[in-house]
Amino acid sequence: MEVHLTPADLRATMERDVRDGLTTSPKCLPPVYFYDERGSRLFDQITRLEEYYPTRSERWILDHHAGEIAQLAKADTLVELGAGTCDKSRILLDAMGANGTLERFVPLDVSEEVLVEAAEALVTEHPALEVRAAVGDFHRHLGLLPREGRRMFAFLGGTIGNLDPAERRRFLAELDCAMDPGDCLLLGTDLVKDPARLVAAYDDAAGVTAEFNRNVLHVLNRELGADFAPDQFAHVALWNAGEQWIEMRLRSERDTTVHVRALDLTVHFAAGEELRTEISCKFTPTGLEDELLACGFVTQATWRSPGDEFQLTLATPYC
Ligand code: AVJ
Repeated sequence: MEVHLTPADLRATMERDVRDGLTTSPKCLPPVYFYDERGSRLFDQITRLEEYYPTRSERWILDHHAGEIAQLAKADTLVELGAGTCDKSRILLDAMGANGTLERFVPLDVSEEVLVEAAEALVTEHPALEVRAAVGDFHRHLGLLPREGRRMFAFLGGTIGNLDPAERRRFLAELDCAMDPGDCLLLGTDLVKDPARLVAAYDDAAGVTAEFNRNVLHVLNRELGADFAPDQFAHVALWNAGEQWIEMRLRSERDTTVHVRALDLTVHFAAGEELRTEISCKFTPTGLEDELLACGFVTQATWRSPGDEFQLTLATPYC
C-alpha cells in the first residue's frame, strides 16, 4: 500500500476547504465530505433507488461491453481512480483476465480502510494479480502512480461531473501528463437529458438523497466541532441549464448562527440562504469529444446505455 495522503493531510485540507467554503459568498462545500461511513452507506442506497439511473446504466454498459473494452485497450494494468469498493473494477478485471492481458491492478482512493478491504478480497479472487493499492487524491497524486505496464485508467460513475469546467480541464491535462503512449482512459459520464428525470435522480421520493446531502453537516459537527442543526436545512436539487449541471444545496430554514469550534469560526445564515454542496455536470457526446480533444485525448470508442442515459468513452492521449 502506498500512502500519499495521511490522516493529517486530509485533516488540513478539510479545515482549509471548510473555512474557504463557509466564508465565501455564496457559501459552498466540496462534495468529498459527504462520504464518511454513514455517507458512503447512504450513497450506496442511492445507487439502488428507482430514480437514480446512473449506476445501473453504467453497470449495463460494463456488463455488455467489458470484453470489447478490454480488447481495444489491450492493457495489462487497470488503474482505477476513486476505486472505492472496487465493484465495477471486477467486471473490467474479469474481462482483461479473459483477454489474457491482465497483470496488475492499481486502485486509488482517499479512504485507506475501504481500499485495504477491497484489495484483500481481490487478491483472494485473483491470486495471480499484482494489486498495488494507493491512498491518494485523483486531483493531486496522478503523477505518483506506478508507471509500469500498459495502463487503462478508469474514472467511472460520473464522478468527473463533480469538477467544474476549469477543474476538469486541469484534471484532464494532469492525467494526460501522467499517461504514457499506449495507455488509455475509460471515462464514465452522465448525459444531458430531460431535466425532470435529472432532478428526480437527485431528489428521490424516499428522501435518501436529502439525508445524504444533510450528512455533510453531521460530518462537520463531528470532525470540526460545528453546531449545525441539520434538520433545519432543506434539501434542494436543481438543474442549472446554463452550466449544464445538477446542483445540490442546503437551504437554511431560519436565520441562524453556526460556530465551528476547530476553526474558531462563526458563520451567519440568513433565513432562506443556500449552501451549495455539490455540482454534477452532465455531458453531450459531441461536447465531451471536443473537450477531451482540447485536453490532449482522442476518443477511440463510446458506448451508451439504453435510452442514451450514460456513456463510457475510451480515449487515448495524442503525443
Ligand atoms: C458519485 C459524484 C457520481 O453526482 O451523481 C449522487 C454523487 N450526489 N446523488 C453524482 C451523488 C447525489 C454522484 N457521484
